[in-house]
Amino acid sequence: MNKYENIELKALFEISKVLTSSFNLEKNLFLALEIISKELEMRRGSIFIFDKKTEEISIVAAYGLTEEEISRGKYRLGEGIVGRVIETGQPMFIPDIEKEPQFLNKTGSRPNKKGISFLCVPIKIEEEILGVVSADRIYADEQVDVDDDLRVLSIIASLIGQFLKLWETYKIIEDENIILRAQLKDRYNFPNLIGQSPSFQAVLKTVMKVAGTDATVLLFGESGTGKELIAKTIHFQSKRAKGPFVAINCAAIPENLLEAELFGSEKGAFTGAIKRIGKFEQANGGTIFLDEIGELPFSLQPKLLRVLQDKAFEPLGSSKNIKVDVRIISATNKDLSEEIRKGSFREDLFWRLNVIPIYIPPLRERKEDIPPLVEYYLKSFCNIYKKSISIDNEALKVLLSYDWPGNVRELSNTIERLVVMSESDKIKVYELPDRVRGIIKVKSVFSEDLKLPTEIEELERIRIMDALPRFNYNIRKTAKLLGLTERQLNYRVRKYGIKIKKDLGLNDSDH
Ligand SMILES: Nc1ncnc2c1ncn2[C@@H]1O[C@H](COP(=O)(O)OP(=O)(O)O)[C@@H](O)[C@H]1O
Ligand SMILES: [Mg+2]
Repeated sequence: MNKYENIELKALFEISKVLTSSFNLEKNLFLALEIISKELEMRRGSIFIFDKKTEEISIVAAYGLTEEEISRGKYRLGEGIVGRVIETGQPMFIPDIEKEPQFLNKTGSRPNKKGISFLCVPIKIEEEILGVVSADRIYADEQVDVDDDLRVLSIIASLIGQFLKLWETYKIIEDENIILRAQLKDRYNFPNLIGQSPSFQAVLKTVMKVAGTDATVLLFGESGTGKELIAKTIHFQSKRAKGPFVAINCAAIPENLLEAELFGSEKGAFTGAIKRIGKFEQANGGTIFLDEIGELPFSLQPKLLRVLQDKAFEPLGSSKNIKVDVRIISATNKDLSEEIRKGSFREDLFWRLNVIPIYIPPLRERKEDIPPLVEYYLKSFCNIYKKSISIDNEALKVLLSYDWPGNVRELSNTIERLVVMSESDKIKVYELPDRVRGIIKVKSVFSEDLKLPTEIEELERIRIMDALPRFNYNIRKTAKLLGLTERQLNYRVRKYGIKIKKDLGLNDSDH
């Protein structure tokens, strides 16, 4: 892939991000046009919306035009290039606007029309024409290709189209939910989704908004960040809640069986095939969760694309066309743009899945969520195992400093194990698993403004406090483990005021 295409891909990603960045229509469209102008070297990008009732076409957003120029940009159906594109639904390219009598330059934004080309593509959703995207282009550089520009602009138009449709739905829901929202006061609480960090709250806000729509959602995030839990939450908050939630992991099923698993099969479609109903059919009336979508074999991608477009497919070995009413939520921990670049994931499929992207940050990037998660899991496992256990502050600090490569799943497993194993009513540092304690990252345990010598002392204190109980406060053994002499250890115990308390009965002492 050449450099130009990488720029395109980057621009497309940015546009898809800004389109869903807020619920402010004009602002998002303006930001998208800004990217078109800056990244793709197209000038004076404009988005026109066609009002079916009045049959008027007007600019909703424009980049590089003044307010006055914008207000002049009104067309009738069939009038000018813009009006023609809306009427015919076909993209148009004007190589030189000076030589084109149909080009009306109504906004008056081009006093000098020399050498300017004009690109105009329709914004279409299932044959309905919502408007057009247009841009000026000066082809000084012979390397760029008009077809490429039209192709990119068409993808952008389809993203904008999906966004416009969604926005309509949001508007309706927004009105319906106004009272409900006032009660929530910008705090999004779902009983099973824990997290108050700004980044997690932003995720919940989006979850809340998309739950009311049928929009296709793509969840990104490392393993264990809660993608499946969020998919379920969206389903159970949606009007499909009474319908089925069907999950399938595209990576867990061998390639040759996946097609039958997803779409069903007729008896004898392949050796050993029985007639069976696929996941899509099972999910009818509900939601299908396609986990690890990045692993979907290339050969199955067109079939999924068709389901997304037409909500229809044919089971393996059958020519029967099955229609389903299914909402699609997919998830990936892979960088799909990389897969697209490598050619293992279809770009058109990606844009169909990525209507609403939701990125769930790893736990190490939202450490504020660790204490409430620890609390939540302590409580729920204590309930299950009929115990009453809390956690010591030092131990909590260590949990905060750990990177949690397995994210919430690892944290939940760790707490469960601690609750099962713990014999006291307070979890101490030394009870934490080695991997959690082993990687004490000095910097993140302590506040930013601590000086190095203080940090070193703090680390020393934690290591000693952690090691002593493991040898039942035996100074000689602890010193040996830490690589200190007994004198050095005794000095530090006094220096840090560490209490030596031996468990009675546990007799490991050799003084
Ligand atoms: N914010 C959260 N609050 C409570 N539990 C969570 C949260 N995020 C994840 N979990 C729990 O962590 C575990 C892993 O979540 P999962 O949805 O399977 O992650 P992923 O699909 O991203 O690998 C599950 O047990 C889930 O219930
Ligand atoms: Mg998962």
